[in-house]
Amino acid sequence: MSSADETGLRSGDRREPVPFDFDTLVDRSGTGSQKWDKYAGRDVIPLWVADMDFRSPPAVMAALQDRVAHGVFGYTSAPDELAQVMVEHLARDCEWRVEPQWIVWLPGLVTGLNLACSLAGGTGDAVVTLTPVYPPFLSAPRHAQRECIRVPLEDTRDGWHIDFDRLEAAITPRTRMLLLCNPHNPVGRVYTGDELRRIAELCLRRDLTVCSDEIHCGLILDPDRRHLPLAAVAPAIAEHSLTLMAPSKTFNIPGLGMSFAVVPGVPLRQRLLKAMAGFTPSVNALGFTAALAAYRDGALWHAALLDYLSGNRDLVERRMAALPGLSMHHVEATYLAWIDARETGVADPQRFFEQAGVGLSDGRDFGGDGFVRLNFGCPRALLETALERMTTALAHR
Ligand SMILES: Cc1ncc(COP(=O)(O)O)c(C=O)c1O
Repeated sequence: MSSADETGLRSGDRREPVPFDFDTLVDRSGTGSQKWDKYAGRDVIPLWVADMDFRSPPAVMAALQDRVAHGVFGYTSAPDELAQVMVEHLARDCEWRVEPQWIVWLPGLVTGLNLACSLAGGTGDAVVTLTPVYPPFLSAPRHAQRECIRVPLEDTRDGWHIDFDRLEAAITPRTRMLLLCNPHNPVGRVYTGDELRRIAELCLRRDLTVCSDEIHCGLILDPDRRHLPLAAVAPAIAEHSLTLMAPSKTFNIPGLGMSFAVVPGVPLRQRLLKAMAGFTPSVNALGFTAALAAYRDGALWHAALLDYLSGNRDLVERRMAALPGLSMHHVEATYLAWIDARETGVADPQRFFEQAGVGLSDGRDFGGDGFVRLNFGCPRALLETALERMTTALAHR
């Protein structure tokens, strides 16, 4: 199959390079979009579930078109090149040296979270996590017959921080795993090397396996920050860790069901493979194709995306600073803003803003009563309209 360059053009096709377009609103009606169908027929701007309204990189679209044109979609293994492309990507972007055999392909990251919870300890043991957090972190332990221990992040003047004393105190002799989210959905934190080393030290001392969900690692918005995988920063924990990653958030292909775990420890990896055998479906043919094109040929698009998202992030932060009753901390990564609406006195802020024409995620689902989560991965003009609606609603309440 021929391969395209980053703009999606094949050689011979060359015209003036087309700048990536994040401003045009793509009509997603009729595509089964969960985000848009929730409000079909209603004048509500959907800024909830975490996918973006942008087309994927042109190189990804071209690779998918080639694969679809082939026409046979049998059971599919990962392309030979993919593991090596991942190894190079992780070395370059995350300074993490991984071996290709550490990679286990998964049909979705939530699948990985659920599998992970069953890998340490047994029925009735516990999994600890930091809240507010992406809702499957709260349900996955239960699915594996584990108790879920929630430790709230600390809301300080300079942002969300881990309260290590509280975390330490919450760990019981039956706690066998920490579920970490880094970058953290929904608060947008990128944990520092010092924080990660403290987490690793704590887990080693208390004999916890760590499952580190790093799905948002390609969405670091601050140019002076970079993503540090826990297992790279603290190699001593690597043998006891699973790191979950995916191209889905970064390249906007979550509907293609493609993710992977990096599991350096042989016993843990064998337990994962055993838990998956005959149970977990493999990644589909198009997911593999898209992932390869994204990581191999998507760098220019990715850089342009980060630039655009940073602009959207700045806009949201400026507007929130000026809105009475709403506040948020700086978003270091992700396209998600975690907004504290408690000062508005509105009992159900998700419903309140939905009635004003903006569909946000309800903070209660994340363990954050009185908060809403706003997804700013959309054309700026749409975001401006949504922020305008929120401003007007608060002024007239
Ligand atoms: C932290 C985190 N993990 C996992 C997922 C979902 O992953 P998948 O769609 O691959 O199951 C999301 C989606 O928003 C997420 O934010």
